[in-house]
Amino acid sequence: MNTKGFSTIILAAGKGTRMKSSLPKVLHRIGGKSMLQHVIDAAEDAGATQNIVVVGFGRDKVETAIGNTARIVVQQEQLGTGHAVLQAEPLITKNDTVMILCGDTPLLTTKILKNFYESHINTGAQASVLTAVMPDPAGYGRIIRNFNGEFKKIVEHKDASISEKAITEVNTGIYCFNAASLFPALHQVGHDNAQGEYYLPDVLEILQKENEKINAIAADNYESTLGINSREQLAHAEKILHHRKNHQLMNSGVTIMDPDTTYIDSTVVIGQDTVIYPSTWLQGNCIIGANCEIGPCSRFSDTIIKDGAIISFTYAHDCEIGANATVGPYVHLRPHTKIAANVHIGNFVEVKNSNVGTGTKLPHLSYIGDSDIGSGVNMGCGCITVNYDGKNKHRTTIEDNAFIGCNSNMVAPVKIGKNSYVGAGSTITKDVPDGSLAVGRARQTNIEKWHDKRN
Ligand code: UD1
Ligand code: CA
Repeated sequence: MNTKGFSTIILAAGKGTRMKSSLPKVLHRIGGKSMLQHVIDAAEDAGATQNIVVVGFGRDKVETAIGNTARIVVQQEQLGTGHAVLQAEPLITKNDTVMILCGDTPLLTTKILKNFYESHINTGAQASVLTAVMPDPAGYGRIIRNFNGEFKKIVEHKDASISEKAITEVNTGIYCFNAASLFPALHQVGHDNAQGEYYLPDVLEILQKENEKINAIAADNYESTLGINSREQLAHAEKILHHRKNHQLMNSGVTIMDPDTTYIDSTVVIGQDTVIYPSTWLQGNCIIGANCEIGPCSRFSDTIIKDGAIISFTYAHDCEIGANATVGPYVHLRPHTKIAANVHIGNFVEVKNSNVGTGTKLPHLSYIGDSDIGSGVNMGCGCITVNYDGKNKHRTTIEDNAFIGCNSNMVAPVKIGKNSYVGAGSTITKDVPDGSLAVGRARQTNIEKWHDKRN
């Protein structure tokens, strides 16, 4: 087999009218990244030596989104897929093999692209087209074969006759060409069709008429080649992607109680014997250990959760949660929060930009912001670190084994020393030395016989 690799041309200049969106179609996201990025990543993994993306509508947004993961060429006017490919001609050398992909097919797998490229090389064809048999072929170009089953041409849905529309084998929009055949044929393509566009698939008919060898080969899994043209199709693709990830995780020893309501990005890593409860969403670079219980009704992004943690009804982003910690229900962990092992965080607690030491308990109704809390601290119900003076944020330090009574405010910057106590209902504005009791509240006055005096 020829192993010199291939260049890709990824078509992404169209507006995506059917999405009804101001965002270019290929930038709509599924499974945590844009449709276009899925395609670029799959091509990269399949061994592409260079990826060229054709941009047009919303080109600035598309260029920013792909960064340096691909080269860019601009199609000023969207005159059709054939015209789009022509824009990349200057970047392709004559001996190249070119794989053409569309930016709106996010379910493509590396395996499909590798197999397709190998089939193109092994059959010695000048052009190969990947086809698929779709249960609902509406909208796709149909594959027309002759009575021997050999490839003849592709007819677009809008140009198809009733009998052609009945054909279920479609063009996936994925092709391999020898560059030396592609570009001369592409220059001959006209635009005499229902959409007045230069159709890329017409190249195949031109080459076929020149008696070049065309390899039209069916993908074994049509789902991976689905093209997304509408929001409904986007939602459908999202489901497929999530089921794929759930399937892979379950096969590696993760229990997912309800795959239908569990959304896990492809980037997430989860250890063995962890159980994911229903309605849970894991996004971005989450790394979850073994033997954890996650959910129900939780959302995590870019969060590290160590072995044995039990977390329910929680939203955490950009955090770290230690081994065997118990968190929830109804907890919000905000960025730059580091929770150590064996910590307990209970009902209605918010923690932001703080460190919480081993075995510390924050059981109910507290706000902890910009704080460094040691280990073995017990915080009563309803405590607040008062971190903002209206202009600046300040830190609170609570050292090991301190005991904070219910409904206390720690006005930062302030430090509560080791083994010290804060009386319930205190507002602490001065540092508390190690081992002492601080009481910062008005003394109680009892006015006797009050009831009688009022009447
Ligand atoms: C295209 C194919 C069709 C195939 C289907 C597979 C043509 C004429 N038709 O139809 O046979 O079944 O894909 O999904 O090729 N684009 C540009 N510049 C343009 C026009 C389009 O870059 O001038 C890009 C779009 O951004 C998109 C891709 O090409 O990523 C496909 O365009 P789209 O309009 O979605 O083509 P389909 O009608 O789906
Ligand atoms: Ca399409």
